[in-house]
Amino acid sequence: MRIDVLTLFPEMFESPMSFSILKRAKDSGVVEIVLTNIRDFSKDKHKKVDDRPYGGGPGMVMMCQPVFDCFKHVAEQSKEKGRIILLTPQGKPFTQKLAAELANEKRIILISGHYEGFDERIRTGLAAEQISIGDYVLSGGELAAMVIIDTVARLLPGALGDEYSAQDETFSESAGGGSTSLTAGGLEYPQYTRPEVFRDMKVPDILLSGHHAEIEKWRHRQSLERTRQIRPDLLKE
Ligand code: ADE
Repeated sequence: MRIDVLTLFPEMFESPMSFSILKRAKDSGVVEIVLTNIRDFSKDKHKKVDDRPYGGGPGMVMMCQPVFDCFKHVAEQSKEKGRIILLTPQGKPFTQKLAAELANEKRIILISGHYEGFDERIRTGLAAEQISIGDYVLSGGELAAMVIIDTVARLLPGALGDEYSAQDETFSESAGGGSTSLTAGGLEYPQYTRPEVFRDMKVPDILLSGHHAEIEKWRHRQSLERTRQIRPDLLKE
């Protein structure tokens, strides 16, 4: 999969992409991430990329020209059109389901804005969909783009080694292969590893019992109970 990012701050992406699963996915060619600096396409002599909003109001708005020219340059680098995504708090919510959908694409193009927002003609002119990673306002779309890259990349075939599993975990709808799964759409059950006792806190006996069917039932109950207490909205869904 190819992921393009149009951003004013490509350097922000370096560290998160240099570790762990994302690094491995990149190094092994599972994902190709191409960063392009929007500012390089500004035709303004001061390399301006934003301006004051028509009609007044606070903040600055990302201008059309640098974004359209940057987009044209990026789009031409591959025959694959890809899904064009603007990162904005006005977008549709990013969920595990949407991540799985994006992981099926051959290419996605993420456009990160800074300042107060984008000139509306960027969204309409590029026919971009808008995605938000949550109901809060970041100072720019870069962190949102990184969240999407990380979540999508680990779902790509070959991205996770044997020691990891994307299946049997919180929010995974395909855990165990369907609606009977332990965590389908809910929170994950509690996990433990060695030692059996740490500062008087003991691993639940059931997990040491070797009774796999009973362990599954216990995990299912724990998962349900956690979800009921912390995220009842997920059960309603
Ligand atoms: N840019 C600023 N806030 C954002 C958010 N919550 N999601 C996506 N992009 C953003």
